[in-house]
Amino acid sequence: MGFFQIFRVALALSIAGKATPRAAPRAPSLFCDPDTDVCYSGSTVGIAEIAYRVALPLVDTAPFDMLIQIVAPKSAGWAGIAWGGHMINNTVTLGWANGNSSVVSSRWASAHTVPDVYDSAEYTLLKGSTANDTHWTMNALCKGCSIWTHDGGATTTLDPGATEANFAWASSPSPPLDPSDNYTVFGIHTEHGTFTIDLAAARTDKFDSYVQTLSN
Ligand code: HEM
Ligand SMILES: *[C@@H]1O[C@H](CO)[C@@H](O)[C@H](O)[C@H]1NC(C)=O
Ligand SMILES: *[C@@H]1O[C@H](CO)[C@@H](O)[C@H](O)[C@H]1NC(C)=O
Ligand SMILES: *[C@@H]1O[C@H](CO)[C@@H](O)[C@H](O)[C@H]1NC(C)=O
Ligand SMILES: *[C@@H]1O[C@H](CO)[C@@H](O)[C@H](O)[C@H]1NC(C)=O
Repeated sequence: MGFFQIFRVALALSIAGKATPRAAPRAPSLFCDPDTDVCYSGSTVGIAEIAYRVALPLVDTAPFDMLIQIVAPKSAGWAGIAWGGHMINNTVTLGWANGNSSVVSSRWASAHTVPDVYDSAEYTLLKGSTANDTHWTMNALCKGCSIWTHDGGATTTLDPGATEANFAWASSPSPPLDPSDNYTVFGIHTEHGTFTIDLAAARTDKFDSYVQTLSN
């Protein structure tokens, strides 16, 4: 191979190396919200670049409460996370914009159809749940997201020590039918996938003060 051919191959390789697949999940990382100083562990996924983030208390086992943050561009009509890593048979948390605020919606899918409302998780919508011209942010406290009972009776718990906990996400550009109502219906996703969050890194001794900060 002549000099110029080697050069061309090297150039092609370096271009290929720089091409980041946009739909691939990013490495899990800690993110501290500049508006609230609350630090979360999370991942940013999908073409729409939606961030799913959590903060947990310093625990070794479920059940535990979770602070959940979803930050999405306005082009995301709804976005959600399925805590078991797939659509069906696990706790699902959805968010979307509503005026200058956002909404949290608790769901459960028993089939590949619109998920039902799920009453076994208790959510509090928190400060910092906002929507502006470009993005919406959903901040919520969930009691009951770390443990769930399948339609068949088996129970699954999240492992707060997992450094690569597997979750699933989905989103659609179409907003729900009535964005002010967290019991509303919505259409199927245009994008879905799986990703990981470092739950071990999400644990913090500041959890209670975070909840307080976000509740005031
Ligand atoms: C109107 C609401 C929804 C409908 C009609 C629906 C329907 C479907 C269908 C038909 C599939 C299989 C075909 C495919 O892979 O595209 C699927 C897969 C999937 N959906 Fe949904 N879905 C809805 C909401 C959701 C929500 C809220 C989530 C999670 C936040 C979700 C997560 C997923 C995931 C991760 C898959 C991949 C396979 C699996 O995990 O079962 N979906 N959905
Ligand atoms: C959000 O909108 C409501 C009325 O729709 C208004 O009262 C409130 O001040 C607005 N909040 C902000 C932060 O703009
Ligand atoms: C609806 O949102 C409120 C907080 O605004 C929350 O307390 C409640 O659990 C939610 N219900 C469902 C079904 O998502
Ligand atoms: C709009 O909201 C996003 C996320 O909630 C935030 O990062 C951004 O700074 C906000 N933009 C303005 C102009 O306030
Ligand atoms: C839900 O999980 C149970 C096992 O716990 C299983 O028996 C059932 O078939 C699952 N449902 C679906 C729709 O996959």
